[in-house]
Amino acid sequence: MQQPASYLLAGQASEFERLQLQSKVWEPAARELLAAIPAGEAPHALEVGCGVMGWLRALSQWAGPNGRVTGSDFDDKMLAGAAHLVDTEHLANVTLVKDDLFASRLEPGAFDLVHARFQIAPLGRAKEQLAAFMRWVRPGGVLVLEDPDTSSWRVNPDAPSVQELIALIERGFVAAGGNFNSGRELPALLRSVGLQPNIRARVVALEPGHPYLRLPLQFAASLRPRLEKLVSADELDALLQRAEAELSREGTWGTTFTLVQAWAVAGP
Ligand SMILES: C[S@@+](CC[C@H](N)C(=O)[O-])C[C@H]1O[C@@H](n2cnc3c(N)ncnc32)[C@H](O)[C@@H]1O
Repeated sequence: MQQPASYLLAGQASEFERLQLQSKVWEPAARELLAAIPAGEAPHALEVGCGVMGWLRALSQWAGPNGRVTGSDFDDKMLAGAAHLVDTEHLANVTLVKDDLFASRLEPGAFDLVHARFQIAPLGRAKEQLAAFMRWVRPGGVLVLEDPDTSSWRVNPDAPSVQELIALIERGFVAAGGNFNSGRELPALLRSVGLQPNIRARVVALEPGHPYLRLPLQFAASLRPRLEKLVSADELDALLQRAEAELSREGTWGTTFTLVQAWAVAGP
């Protein structure tokens, strides 16, 4: 079983905050997509690798009072963060379980909807992950995958050091066996197991002062040990300082990476 310590982004407070912010930024995209998927009478949804929030809030509403949501993660700290959300927001139909998606104890075929966001990008092993997702979803249930594509990720006016940092982060993911651009591969991945994917892509405009503009800096903090294998600590610090200065310019705004959403009904 892969231990939390070996997970690319594990363990830092910066990662906890990043996941909270990220879940809020992408919640409208979650709700729009869920509006296109009929929930049925009493659905059971699985949020894989829920982190501190993921889709738990959106799925809780989608499932309704007769439905259920299971949030799984293998990291106790993440599960504690998610439990705090469930308590404070009274998400009565949400249950959290500790589960390693690569050695899962969740019941096969038990879920009407399985959702995994930002799991393939950091963890890689896309085929293995897909096999787990396919095992969990019932025939006729829906599998929803979301992963990023860096194409649209930029800051305006031009911010060469931020772009250099983003390129370094991409390399850090690859060096750890992941792929920040895995969103591009999701439709082909679903087709590879005979599913017919629906595809959407979302980009959010970040107005001046939006905290998600600082995502490259937050990633650099979470990934620091990895990045220091690619550049020296001094080079990294200098790059971070230049990126910070670019992000501090008045009126600086940006666009997020592209969130690719691919979903399909599991046959038959
Ligand atoms: C990049 S975060 C994404 C969190 C959440 N899906 C979201 O979109 O906000 C990846 C999450 O997967 C969890 N994770 C990593 N490896 C895992 C594994 N083998 N089994 C279950 N969860 C895992 C991490 O603890 C972390 O919470």
